[in-house]
Amino acid sequence: MGVAYGAGASTEDSTFFQEGLIQNMSRVVWVTGAGGLIGHHLMSIAQTQAPGWRVIPIVRPALDLTDSCAVRAALKADAPDLIFHCAAQSRSPACEANPAEARRLNVDVTRLLVENCGKARLLLFSTDQVFDGRTGNYSESAAVNPLGVYGQTKAEAEQVVLSQPKHLVVRTSLTAGRSPTGDRSFTEQMRRAWTQGRTLPLFTDEFRNPLHARFTARAAWELMLQGAQGIHHVAGADRLSRWQIGELLAQQCQVSARLIAPETLATYQGAPRSPDSTLNCQATQRLLRFTLPSFADWIQTAVPSDL
Ligand SMILES: NC(=O)c1ccc[n+]([C@@H]2O[C@H](COP(=O)([O-])OP(=O)(O)OC[C@H]3O[C@@H](n4cnc5c(N)ncnc54)[C@H](OP(=O)(O)O)[C@@H]3O)[C@@H](O)[C@H]2O)c1
Repeated sequence: MGVAYGAGASTEDSTFFQEGLIQNMSRVVWVTGAGGLIGHHLMSIAQTQAPGWRVIPIVRPALDLTDSCAVRAALKADAPDLIFHCAAQSRSPACEANPAEARRLNVDVTRLLVENCGKARLLLFSTDQVFDGRTGNYSESAAVNPLGVYGQTKAEAEQVVLSQPKHLVVRTSLTAGRSPTGDRSFTEQMRRAWTQGRTLPLFTDEFRNPLHARFTARAAWELMLQGAQGIHHVAGADRLSRWQIGELLAQQCQVSARLIAPETLATYQGAPRSPDSTLNCQATQRLLRFTLPSFADWIQTAVPSDL
């Protein structure tokens, strides 16, 4: 089905791996959406997280996940032990523009995988957009109330995954980093706008907790390999407005502050937005072998290839 990754691991990661619940060295892993932002970072660290495993990147040209016959056949052939399910329509405007297609990709594809995954445990990447953003600092047990199509479809997909207790859901926030196509992350999109001389309007009163994809990916591997189940929040350690995030990135990229225009939700007109969908990650943090960093701290040490 695809390229197999493996071989070579740090002592630390090997020890973790041996301590984990899953020890068989010839296991098979699927990473759907491996051509996207988070999937790409899951693949990048696969060798160190699961040495010797056959980690198969599932990309659309090789397997369209809406082709149910092809998906069933591929699952039967590969018989994965673990599935990281990243493939999705992850852009809110595209979901609002075509809700049926969003549901097909985000809900129906997830159901297809869950119903045909056999022995595999599946990790679904979900979003802070399942919350309405009225309070912020949401724990895993907080009630969901999505405002938009994207959040609604992800909340539905969560229910599909959680119908089988062996699976898990990782909800995350704005994700930074480089993607294979160069246009998936918010850091790539902001940098591109500034390169073109465009001024970005950024909300001073909409809050998120951003995280670089490499940490999201590492947390997902660690949770998966230790046999975690249920819902887990994985996000950065600080609560920042979109405006603050833009300022931090502009400073690091040495971009003029004039290319950021403050905007407020009070005068915004458009699809509903969650004012504060920040995630409380304390419960997940206790399970991880590294500290989820604050974006403000992390970006001070970022190099251009991180952004
Ligand atoms: N990035 C964020 O800020 C963020 C925040 C919260 C949650 N999440 C969630 O995390 C997950 C991964 O996000 P991401 O940012 O890595 O997404 P992404 O960069 O948009 O990648 C999604 C991938 O899914 C693939 N895909 C879509 N439909 C497919 C199909 N029918 N068959 C096969 N592949 C298909 C896409 O392929 P094409 O390139 O061919 O379309 C793309 O490579 C998503 O579930 C998203 O909802 C992301």
